[in-house]
Amino acid sequence: MRVVVLTGAGVSAESGLGTFRDKDGLWSRYDLEEVATPEGFARDPHKVHAFYNARRAQGAEARPNPAHHALARLEAGLAERGGELTLVTQNVDPLHEEAGARRVIHMHGSLARTRCAGCGAVWPDRGPLALERACPECGAVGTERPDVVWFGEVPQHLDEISGALARADLFAAIGTSGAVWPAAGFVLEAQAHGARTVELNLEASDNAAAFDDGRYGPASVVVPAWVDQLLKEQA
Ligand code: OAD
Repeated sequence: MRVVVLTGAGVSAESGLGTFRDKDGLWSRYDLEEVATPEGFARDPHKVHAFYNARRAQGAEARPNPAHHALARLEAGLAERGGELTLVTQNVDPLHEEAGARRVIHMHGSLARTRCAGCGAVWPDRGPLALERACPECGAVGTERPDVVWFGEVPQHLDEISGALARADLFAAIGTSGAVWPAAGFVLEAQAHGARTVELNLEASDNAAAFDDGRYGPASVVVPAWVDQLLKEQA
């Protein structure tokens, strides 16, 4: 069985990382135009760095929860049975990898990498972003930005994701509000190619009507139960 899983901020909520659109979510406390757009970075790079430095610091404290561990188990379990998991995440945290997932497609980039806004060079970096440092590749100063996808930018790895959706027998969206495209359209893309679809979320998402099935509750509870059932059915 070929499975594509798309995760969002809800999968990391119980690891202490804030979601975006819930009450008290990040976008109720910060103006996304200011901190998550190329224009905001051009206007005030210090503000953007402060936002992502706080998220890097918070991320360093976070540990994977049972939902991340269950998805790593799904990857290994499907591989043992001749199947395949394509794990796509909108999250910029490294918690899927820390739980043992081997291959994770970070479509919105990763907080654990820095990029030069000038030449596009990317390097691993979990420390604070700094405007006074020079790019190791081109030597430009003041061009450091996180290697995350901002509004108005194209998500990463879209061709690979489309290929996996076209081959999928099952598509699951976990802990995502279905408010951001193109990720919100993956369910339709998978369905158009004949996959069954399920959402696992705290509550029905904006996109719930598009799915064949829904399982609702905290990710730390519903995801392990769903993975156990899926692997049992494949045994
Ligand atoms: P959102 O904050 O939009 O949605 C999080 C979803 O997780 C909501 O539907 C919640 O109900 C659900 N949720 C919250 N706690 C949960 C829990 N414990 N268990 C299960 N579900 C839970 O986050 P995303 O959908 O990930 O993009 O947002 C998508 C993109 O919008 C992000 O990648 C980010 C943001 O702006 C960029 O920054 C480019």
